[in-house]
Amino acid sequence: MAGGSGTRLWPLSRAGFPKQFLVLSGDDSLFQQAAQRLAGLAADDIAVAPLVVVGNAEHRFLTLEQLREIGHEPTAVLLEPSGRNTAPALTLGALQALEGGVDPVLVVTPADQTVADGAAFTVALQDAVRAAADGAIVILGITPDRPETGYGYIRAEACADGLHKVARFVEKPDEETARRYLAEGDYTWNSGMFVLRASTWMKALDKFRPDIATTTRAAWAVRQHDACFVRPGKAEFAHVPSESVDYAVMEQCPGSEFDIRMVALDAGWNDLGAWDAVWQAGTKDAAGNTTTGDVMLEDTRNTLVHATSRLVSTVGLSNIVVVETPDAVLVADRSRSQDVKRIVNRLTEKG
Ligand code: GDD
Ligand code: MG
Repeated sequence: MAGGSGTRLWPLSRAGFPKQFLVLSGDDSLFQQAAQRLAGLAADDIAVAPLVVVGNAEHRFLTLEQLREIGHEPTAVLLEPSGRNTAPALTLGALQALEGGVDPVLVVTPADQTVADGAAFTVALQDAVRAAADGAIVILGITPDRPETGYGYIRAEACADGLHKVARFVEKPDEETARRYLAEGDYTWNSGMFVLRASTWMKALDKFRPDIATTTRAAWAVRQHDACFVRPGKAEFAHVPSESVDYAVMEQCPGSEFDIRMVALDAGWNDLGAWDAVWQAGTKDAAGNTTTGDVMLEDTRNTLVHATSRLVSTVGLSNIVVVETPDAVLVADRSRSQDVKRIVNRLTEKG
């Protein structure tokens, strides 16, 4: 799923070049890292089909170029005429997967994360694929270390078969609730990676959000092919309700007939969703600062400074984010990183 807008990483992330295509850590973009991370998945009992990317039509050449850079010649890039969030995106992927007359297990992954330990990731993912083959909806869960409000929280109970059963799923709780979950101790974060059969997803969507299922099927029915690009109908897709996988289905599953499980992922996972997360994941100097570009700091601590075109200097700052680009500069309290999207909303309203 590579069609997000990455508004919380403004001003580096822009509509024409959103965060998943940026190089924020290492040598490759987050999108390229996500694609490469799946490389080791095959095993004696797991055959892997080619990658399917679901993204925004506006980024089709960027997507193709970045895939080719890492030696991936995609067979299908599904192009959304406009972003409708992840539930419709996953639905397009499921409909494409069901085309071949088989019902494969889908490994659904965001394109905005980093994972340090590739080997541990592969083992967890293979466990998840095996459980999903038996019909379960499997979420990769992360042990939380802070009351982050940008993630989904899962309460899971250990089961005899070694897999955790998800008893509760709460998407993006407020800070007070997140603190309580952390104190209670039996919650994990939703990594945003889901593993499930294509038919299981369609069944769950038909049950919980038939409106999304019907409208997305209508757009898929009139799709057009153009080399590796697949384009659902534009007018039809405009009627698809915008909703995330988490709100549309995952929150509804516990307690229903769907078997929803969690496989723990302990592999140095990070969602670089907001500037605070980029600071968390970055290499720090002795005072806890993460810097990129031409930067000069004086008496500054626990601060992120990202300079792209000029010298940026700071004096006496702590817990601040400074991001400089040629036409826009952001200065924010690091703890308010999630609210950067408010600025983007206002800029969008202004046009
Ligand atoms: N194709 C497509 N179309 N992809 C999209 C769209 C869309 O309309 N919107 C978002 N995506 C992609 C993003 O590019 C990203 O790779 C992924 O789907 C997840 O979307 P985000 O918008 O980044 O979600 P989030 O980070 O707020 O929340 C999700 O991930 C968290 C962990 O990173 C949720 O699943 C949370 O529960 C989870 O904790
Ligand atoms: Mg994200």
